[in-house]
Amino acid sequence: MNIQWYPGHMTKAKRMMAENIALVDIVIELLDARIPFSSKNPEIERLAKDKPRIVVLNKSDISDQAENDAWLEHFRGGGLAAVCVDSTSGKGLPQIADEARRLMRPKRERQQARGRVFAPIRAMIAGIPNVGKSTLINKLVGKPAAKTADRPGVTRSKQWIRIVKDFELLDTPGLLWPKFDDPSVGLNLAFTGAINDQIVDVIELSLLLIETLRSRAPSAIPSRYKISVADEDTPLTVLENIAAAREFRLKGAALNMERAAITLIDEFRAARLGRITLESAEVTKC
Ligand code: G4P
Repeated sequence: MNIQWYPGHMTKAKRMMAENIALVDIVIELLDARIPFSSKNPEIERLAKDKPRIVVLNKSDISDQAENDAWLEHFRGGGLAAVCVDSTSGKGLPQIADEARRLMRPKRERQQARGRVFAPIRAMIAGIPNVGKSTLINKLVGKPAAKTADRPGVTRSKQWIRIVKDFELLDTPGLLWPKFDDPSVGLNLAFTGAINDQIVDVIELSLLLIETLRSRAPSAIPSRYKISVADEDTPLTVLENIAAAREFRLKGAALNMERAAITLIDEFRAARLGRITLESAEVTKC
């Protein structure tokens, strides 16, 4: 399956992001912790124009704990600030402002030495569709959100949200689009739901997911669906066994393969098959 998909308004999104980046001190690069490599757009480095970046591994509640640690080490080893968060519960979110302060400290010390009063740190969240940008912003904002006024001449028509006293967030996230140079990237994006399901064949996708899970998490399918999976079973046999185990049948008693495929994909995305990371930090190319 070779997936090629681009969200609409790509040029507009790119332009908006380039404009907004000029207004911030820091860029928060949001990745999906289940697919840190596939959800990362290498272009962000250029777009961020040398501004400090914080890599935020979101959805870390549904990715593998040991892999989360390995990815943090990977990014930190490459000189980037990196944290793991769960934007749904809010776990880990305070680390973002902490890291922003740490990254901005040298600049602030220089400003202080010159007797300047420093303004709050301003940040923008950027990431591919569905990675959790809105969820993260909403969780950080909480209630009631203190919306700050524009700084005349600098940030006309931009809305900043004060998260804590010294840290503000642009309320419009930067939209990046996935990179499809490597076919496995497209697949990982489809498995995790980052790509519109309408463009993929659901049965074909489920068969590829079965193959992937076989190597990444061999016990996930057998334990979720209470079926045995032998080495020689084809992905199609496994899908048939899932359909049979769940009693998914069409009129006339034939197995309802489409329903089995949709169920498997949905349950994988909701982490009902366990916390599974599809890409290892050790073998990544980034
Ligand atoms: P976006 O703005 O980047 O496009 O993403 P958005 O916040 O809309 O989040 C996409 C989906 O991911 C949402 O699911 C959201 O609840 C879920 N999500 C975001 N952050 C986390 C996280 O840290 N952990 C988990 N487990 N889920 C997270 P949804 O509303 O159910 O959308 P969908 O799944 O129906 O597409």
